[in-house]
Amino acid sequence: MKKNILSIFDIAEEIEEIIDLGIKLKHDVKAGKQFNNLQGKTLAMIFERQSTRTRLSFEIGMTLLGGHAIFLTGGEMGIGQRESPEDIARVLSRYVDAIMYRSINTFYLQELAAHATVPVINGLDREEHPCQILADLMTIKEKKGRLEGLTFTFVGDGDDNLAHSYLLGCTLTGMNVTVISPKKYWPNEYYTTRSKDIAWKKNHTVTITEDLNAVAHTDVIATDTHVSFWFEHERQQRLADLCNYIVTQEIMKKAKPDVIFMHCMPIYYGEEVTKDVAHGQNSVIIDEAENRLWAQMALLTKLLS
Ligand code: CP
Repeated sequence: MKKNILSIFDIAEEIEEIIDLGIKLKHDVKAGKQFNNLQGKTLAMIFERQSTRTRLSFEIGMTLLGGHAIFLTGGEMGIGQRESPEDIARVLSRYVDAIMYRSINTFYLQELAAHATVPVINGLDREEHPCQILADLMTIKEKKGRLEGLTFTFVGDGDDNLAHSYLLGCTLTGMNVTVISPKKYWPNEYYTTRSKDIAWKKNHTVTITEDLNAVAHTDVIATDTHVSFWFEHERQQRLADLCNYIVTQEIMKKAKPDVIFMHCMPIYYGEEVTKDVAHGQNSVIIDEAENRLWAQMALLTKLLS
């Protein structure tokens, strides 16, 4: 398995195996089974931005596997100011067995990964959120019983880190993917091209469109904030540009009756999704949040044990 997990593509060959292990770990731990695969192992978690789910799921996951996690903030460490990512990578590699990094600056993440001798996991950067996608794919498999052949639709800001990871992760697991977004917010060309290439080899489709009617026949609808951290300065413009792409009951009704709604959380109600959809009968958002724990435990097991 590749040392660094900066993109979901870095575990292209192992995604399904990790998802199945996550489902098994969830079952086993809930049945009372105890694990110590990671006894004596330490994960450093560096956050340059706020987090609830990522921090808790990694820390609790390490504990449940018999290991230990240390919470660090970019501010305390002064990454890129007090000390270079390169030096931090070299020093941390002597103390810990893996590093999880939520970075503001993708270059720092790449530098840390390049110079660390232990695995570096991307805990969300501008371009991707690979751990979230693992949990989301696990949730879809639990709810639908399969991934292959399903249709996944992302509605909203298509140039979002989640949309990018969905394009790769869903096509790698045999799903058809649609991104519905105003042209101005279409995904980064790299992710469109790469996912189309994967889909073509598997005889599936990738569709990027402005047309909301494209949700017809989809099995999954997902969205994310319309104003991500990197674009706070464009808040009013983005909310105006994306106001027709809020996931409402009207949009949900265009899809299959058993469509599931996903959101990685936190949610900005009324900006990207209405509250009745986010907590409606088709929503799986709390299962999705829970599955961060099990999917990451599976990832850590594969990486470290
Ligand atoms: N979805 C997600 O990454 O949540 P946090 O920002 O709370 O970690």
